[in-house]
Amino acid sequence: MSDTVVPVPPEVANGASIDAEKYEAMYKASIQDPVKFWDDHGRRLDWIRPYSTVRNVSYSYPDVQIEWFGDGTMNVAANCIDRHLENRAEQTAILFEPDDPEEEAQHISYAQLHAEVSKFANVLKTLGVRKGDRVVIYLPMIPAAAYAMLACARIGAIHSVVFAGFSPDALADRVNDCGAKLVITADHAPRGGRSTPLKTNADKALRRCGDDVKLLVVRRTGEQTTWVEGRDFHYETLAAIVEPECKPEEMNAEDPLFILYTSGSTGKPKGVVHTSAGYLVYASMTHEHVFDYRDGEVYWCTADVGWVTGHSYIVYGPLANGATTLMFEGVPTWPDASRFWQVVDKHKVSIFYTAPTALRALMGKGDQWITKCDLSTLRILGTVGEPINPEAWNWYHRVVGKGKCPIVDTWWQTETGGILISPLPGATPLKPGSATRPFFGVNPVVLDDQGNELEGEATGVLAIKDSWPGQMRTVWGDHARFVSTYFEMFKGYYFSGDGCRRDADGYYWITGRVDDVINVSGHRMGTAEVESALVAHEKVAEAAVVGYPHDIKGQGIYCYVTLMEGVEPTEALRKELSDWVRTEIGPIAKPDVIQWAPGLPKTRSGKIMRRILRKIAENDTGALGDTSTLADPAVVDDLVANSAHKQ
Ligand code: WTA
Repeated sequence: MSDTVVPVPPEVANGASIDAEKYEAMYKASIQDPVKFWDDHGRRLDWIRPYSTVRNVSYSYPDVQIEWFGDGTMNVAANCIDRHLENRAEQTAILFEPDDPEEEAQHISYAQLHAEVSKFANVLKTLGVRKGDRVVIYLPMIPAAAYAMLACARIGAIHSVVFAGFSPDALADRVNDCGAKLVITADHAPRGGRSTPLKTNADKALRRCGDDVKLLVVRRTGEQTTWVEGRDFHYETLAAIVEPECKPEEMNAEDPLFILYTSGSTGKPKGVVHTSAGYLVYASMTHEHVFDYRDGEVYWCTADVGWVTGHSYIVYGPLANGATTLMFEGVPTWPDASRFWQVVDKHKVSIFYTAPTALRALMGKGDQWITKCDLSTLRILGTVGEPINPEAWNWYHRVVGKGKCPIVDTWWQTETGGILISPLPGATPLKPGSATRPFFGVNPVVLDDQGNELEGEATGVLAIKDSWPGQMRTVWGDHARFVSTYFEMFKGYYFSGDGCRRDADGYYWITGRVDDVINVSGHRMGTAEVESALVAHEKVAEAAVVGYPHDIKGQGIYCYVTLMEGVEPTEALRKELSDWVRTEIGPIAKPDVIQWAPGLPKTRSGKIMRRILRKIAENDTGALGDTSTLADPAVVDDLVANSAHKQ
């Protein structure tokens, strides 16, 4: 951690939506009188029936209830599109940069977006989708992904986007969990010069789903796919015959907008539910202030719409603000390591928001990939998804930002809907590696293990006192899981699952998860998911998975595997298991290390001592701590002697 302070450059403070003084005043007001504060800011949306109640919130365990603007009605798509038609019809809403730099970019104006989304909404209706129905979206990073999301919002259907890198099994689990009646996919997904057969994946997934689930296929590459008559529909065929107009449905503020599956410390991924108005108020307000978005600028968030960052900061936040949002289908290193910077150069990007893992990977390729591009339009840089190490921060600041662009290190989660802790470019002096200070209305606390609030400089777990409008409302189909995951351990708070330190200036430094969730290349993964994939293999008796520090990915996946009696531990089997996990979950879950473990360290009651496994994976075996409570302490010696670090 570094103690360097980077002051706000005067030219950034100048004209910024929020300066230091305004931040302090607004922040104070937002905490002292949240009802008044959000009553004012909820009006940034266009309401059909304005709200009279701002909030109805109880964090009281076990009757947790969260409602914002509960008696208002509105439509999310109308707020992201229709209301901009008067002044911005011809302005670019979505700027699409395809995977292949030879393929032409597309500039989709707000008027075109309106037409496309209306058409898409009518196609959904033709297929029988109604208000409240669930629709799974399994698409590449193409404009149709945004159209599909907004079309659902327009007719009041609830979308659940599944990252196109997920396996057929992972897709099927999500379709079944939310009871979707329609899956939207594309023929193929080009990415990094390669192509994933998305339709084929969807076919495999649907074999595990109900017979009534339909499949809508958008054309991306035009390659041939198999076809199931009566179940599969070509988007383009239906779009050609539907009405062009589609009136937005009047939705209650608290009607669900989307479900997004995310990993937790136990069990299968859970369906995080976000509702309509509070989510949009929060996503748009954070987008405006955290990035100091100014009219006419090109804003680029490199995330995928399969993650929450893509929902809030590619689609909903920017479009609600009438911004120009860039959607990029490709990867940072193809055709070469200058791709990001070529895109910034070509489209004159002002605001660039990415993940530390991408920066670390690019940093290793050398500065020449950057210096050959013109990055003079860049004004604000951002990071998200994991802690950023000071080396990567400094490189980003110096080489990409030429020392003049503030870096907003934004801390938040799928559950929080939007950014909770982050600098504001014109207001907050930066400290490399710190997410700095809370956004308006967010009241973070540092708790000790017993749940006591710590004052001043402190290290502990990060929790949030009181609600903000973008907060998740429930776990789809399992409100009890919502309550027990986030509100049981520390009564009266939302528990984030992250550890943190608050320094003497009141800056927050996120230190990473304190539960069994790991963060691999900015992607959240439950170790339990990888374990259950491993034990599903016929040759595996038992498995334990932990994270370990990885130079590029942040954390790598370290698996301890106990094989069935009589099975030979060979290199071929190691590869087979690695490929197995990849097909069960997706490429992002591919193990980095598989260590054969004749036994796992367990307490006498049979609980695996993960603390010890973590230490071995981190190569910190001098400090294994107390092993006397283990059923068989000799197991540990074997694991230490054969750890990946000793090979
Ligand atoms: C981690 C992504 C440090 C954290 C928006 C959190 C971060 C998890 C940061 C959520 C940051 C996110 N600094 N850690 N700026 N941003 N994290 O749900 O551990 O995919 O709990 O949401 O990522 O990951 P999720």
